[in-house]
Amino acid sequence: MKPTVYVINGPNLNLLGTREPEQYGRATLADVEELCRSAAEAHGFGLVFRQSNHEGELVSWVQEAGAVRAAGIVLNAAAYTHTSIALLDAVAAVAVPVIEVHITNVHAREPFRHVSYVARAAKGVICGLGPQGYALAIAGLAGLVTQRELKS
Ligand code: DQA
Repeated sequence: MKPTVYVINGPNLNLLGTREPEQYGRATLADVEELCRSAAEAHGFGLVFRQSNHEGELVSWVQEAGAVRAAGIVLNAAAYTHTSIALLDAVAAVAVPVIEVHITNVHAREPFRHVSYVARAAKGVICGLGPQGYALAIAGLAGLVTQRELKS
């Protein structure tokens, strides 16, 4: 069966395209999903793409990705990145590599965005490259799978 990548999006990312376009650009979440679908296909992954404004739902989806032994998770937890110990614990609890993604360069923004709880348990972080950061994260997960196969 094809390995699956979960792409999990947090609060307000449903508004991409109209939300602060000077910050986040004009691409909608549907555009981001399409981008992820082509990247996943190119690397032989199936794709589960989700968005929620609710912290607990994001936690449950990280757990779900762990339970189905997904190949990896691309997680843009949005504002919960900077606040959620629950999401950090979920990421730490699953044996699935997680790549944290942000559309914007959070380090060039307000100081409260410089802190990421999720990053403590993430395999890697990509930020500031716009929506293509998602595709790069999927490529990164493919690289990790290959690395793992070479080691075993
Ligand atoms: C974001 C950055 C976060 O600080 C912010 O709260 C978001 C989006 C990004 O993709 O750049 O909602 O995760």
